[in-house]
Amino acid sequence: MEETRHAISEDAARARQALGKRNLVLVGLMGAGKSAIGKLVAQLLDIPFIDSDHEIERVSRMTIPELFESYGEPEFRKLEQRVIKRLLKTGPRVLSTGGGAFMNEETRAAITQNGLSLWLDADLDTLWERVIKRDNRPLLKTANPKKTLEDLMIARYPTYATAHLRVKSRDVKKDHVAAEVIAAIAATLEDADHDA
Ligand code: S3P
Repeated sequence: MEETRHAISEDAARARQALGKRNLVLVGLMGAGKSAIGKLVAQLLDIPFIDSDHEIERVSRMTIPELFESYGEPEFRKLEQRVIKRLLKTGPRVLSTGGGAFMNEETRAAITQNGLSLWLDADLDTLWERVIKRDNRPLLKTANPKKTLEDLMIARYPTYATAHLRVKSRDVKKDHVAAEVIAAIAATLEDADHDA
């Protein structure tokens, strides 16, 4: 246990170094654990955590379902793009993004240029178990939400795969996934050492 903790803190120091002033930007589908894992990673790295959906709700003084209903998805994406571009200017932080953010070309380019992106990749059943617990996803208000989620996986996973890093989010303890995220960031430093 003590040894594991020691390994995590060594990795955390290297991960902090690898990140520099950039944000670690978590991307992935609804239910992948971007916020839950993101908060833990931020704690372990001792940097702030921020969630782009919360920030959108704060600046608009509306909830995400209200924004979708009043203005529609295209307007929501514009707002999301503006908010994420602004958030990327301050770092280092862990920034968790809404599932559609990385699908928008401009938002993706801004994340790729200014942040370190990490895809939390999860399978359909893991996502489904998590999203059915809450009723706050406008895109899943369909006749067959599980099929909708599956269609989103098929449409989005090739794009998520262009993120700098990828970690599998599955049904294990959150601490475990968070430690893998930190190890993946730390490893980018080793890659850079080898390249030099
Ligand atoms: C969306 C995901 C949601 C939220 C909005 C749209 C998407 O965020 O931004 O409902 O397009 O996948 P989470 O991924 O945090 O659920």
